[in-house]
Amino acid sequence: MGYLTFEYTKTAANYVRIYQDGAWQTGTLTEADELHLPSMATALHYGQEAFEGLKAFRRRDGRVQIFRPYENAKRFQGSCAYLLMPTIEVDDFVSAVYQTVKANLDYVPSYESGGALYIRPYMLGIGATLAPVPSKKYLFGVIVTPVGDLFKGAFKPVNLWVSTVDRVAPHGTGQYKIGGNYAASLYAQSIAKSKGFDDSLFLDPLTHTKIEEVGAANFFAITKDNHYITPESPSILKSITNQSLQFIAKEQLGLTVVHDDIYIDQLDGLVEAGACGTAAVITPIRSLAYQDTVHVFPTNHQAGPITQKLYEHLTSIQKGDREDPADWLLIVE
Ligand SMILES: Cc1ncc(COP(=O)(O)O)c(C=O)c1O
Repeated sequence: MGYLTFEYTKTAANYVRIYQDGAWQTGTLTEADELHLPSMATALHYGQEAFEGLKAFRRRDGRVQIFRPYENAKRFQGSCAYLLMPTIEVDDFVSAVYQTVKANLDYVPSYESGGALYIRPYMLGIGATLAPVPSKKYLFGVIVTPVGDLFKGAFKPVNLWVSTVDRVAPHGTGQYKIGGNYAASLYAQSIAKSKGFDDSLFLDPLTHTKIEEVGAANFFAITKDNHYITPESPSILKSITNQSLQFIAKEQLGLTVVHDDIYIDQLDGLVEAGACGTAAVITPIRSLAYQDTVHVFPTNHQAGPITQKLYEHLTSIQKGDREDPADWLLIVE
């Protein structure tokens, strides 16, 4: 396999399961990676769509393992419930993910490549309706694609623009992984890029004083006192990577984990900062541009020492080089 990007590549099979007349039908694997939907499907017009993102990794011994699928299953249930879509049982979600990975084992990148098989479970309202009401028919699917490192192998600190527009509302959809949130962050991301930044960082939508998260990653920082600090808010998606890093910080690196507000104009106590998520695990943050000022973290163009340790611990657990600390990995037999 050549150089891996973060583009979609068709694989051997993906999973589909239809909900109709109040019940889920039996799911199947199919080669086709195109859907035939009514033009008036609720997913297309009213954003009745939720998804997940997780990865399977090849171990040094050649076996393949899926990272924390049960956590994604639970988060998916919350997203689907909020959009009045039917529930997929946790075991059914994990089984669909497992079957899809197993059918595509040849597409899981080698241990040496640093790549992984990205797994995208999703649910769409596929019933046709003109009114903005919940669909009566749904499709639950799992599609996979081999990916490289989103940031092209470079553990390179990024410069973020603190967005002046919000991606979600104060009591809205931020904690759910639904398509509309991503459509709503495209504009902010485009402004950031047009100004020469790598991405945008969102503040809390109620007071615009506290850091929330990046468009597709949580925010964390290391304080002068060696605390791992990360904000908590109903408008932030609960990142499974962030939860895993918190576990490693506390249990393996002996840091204190703090959930607290991080005010955008009070960054001086932070010695390292990073964005974390499935795509890149950790992206170190070099600077935040807020209004007329640019705050550069002390680590500047380097990744901080704790950030590096966190990254090494988590990636080596994912690839099987470090012991699975808490039943995080599901091996595909
Ligand atoms: C908005 C948002 N925040 C955070 C994350 C990170 O979550 P996770 O670590 O579960 O991938 C993601 C997705 O990856 C996201 O889309």
